[in-house]
Amino acid sequence: QKKMILDLDTGIDDALALAYAVGDPNVDLIGVIASYGNTYVETAAQNSLNLLHLLGADEVPVFLGESHASTADHFDVMPISQLIHGKNGVGEVTLDVAPRGVEKQSGVDFLIASAHQYAEDLIFIPTGPLTNLATAIKKDAEVAHLIGNTTLMGGALTVPGNVSPFTEANIHQDPEDADYAFTRQKNLTMVGLDVTLRTLLTKTETAAWRILGTSAGEKYADLMDFYIDAYYNLDIDKKGAALHDPLAVAVGIDPTYVTTMPLAMHVTYDRDSGDYGRTIGDKEKLLEPTTTKAAILVDTTRFVSDFQKMMLTVLA
Ligand code: BDR
Ligand code: CA
Repeated sequence: QKKMILDLDTGIDDALALAYAVGDPNVDLIGVIASYGNTYVETAAQNSLNLLHLLGADEVPVFLGESHASTADHFDVMPISQLIHGKNGVGEVTLDVAPRGVEKQSGVDFLIASAHQYAEDLIFIPTGPLTNLATAIKKDAEVAHLIGNTTLMGGALTVPGNVSPFTEANIHQDPEDADYAFTRQKNLTMVGLDVTLRTLLTKTETAAWRILGTSAGEKYADLMDFYIDAYYNLDIDKKGAALHDPLAVAVGIDPTYVTTMPLAMHVTYDRDSGDYGRTIGDKEKLLEPTTTKAAILVDTTRFVSDFQKMMLTVLA
């Protein structure tokens, strides 16, 4: 059985990614690293602990990751993040506080140790900024070669960004470290807006979670409805809300949900350029072999239907 580590800025769609990973019997979730992004790192960690408790998965440890981009001295939550995910990151839903706290070991050290312990059997899923991964590689360069599968949610290759015309939110938080990771990490798959915006969830599905009559079903429906309403009110999508982060988990386990294109990529981080934070292919490496891939198509029907089946099981 493959081992999985999630790196979440929890976050509503991060909460969905967590439920998906807890529910999938094909993978053993060995830990969750917290990141900043949708909220502050401490809040993200506490949200993950509380959600694991709600899902009956208190055995999964949660580790604190970096609190801001390595080139910055602090981090502020973007106002748009608070509108989409709520001020508490989970759509203003009140969750019971987990009995368990965060681990003493840092998230970066946990990732390094796990890379050595599990190597090709490790699936690493970052669904926030890539600061923790870049910091781990800077501390121990072997990490870039050891982790068997890194499947990240972030970036936009064929469609506009969601923060600026070229920039997706996770990459926007720390383009320098994203570039560091993109240009070093082997077996890296980018699950960006190109595919995640094609996977939408609606209140039809969340109504079915509510009908389960469990506290997990009710809380998850409450937080997801907040996110669907935000998508509607902010005119991001009137049809439903994107399953960004759970798609990365699903692709990490079963790559056949998407069609990928092999492509060495980097991230632009010149602040004076118009394309700050852009994920883009390396023109001079087009003829060289690479283990970096970008997902460009997704089997929307299969993924959304499998996602809903998984949620109905894990929330029951
Ligand atoms: C990504 O940014 C965050 O707001 C979401 O959780 C997702 O990981 C989408 O651009
Ligand atoms: Ca996220």
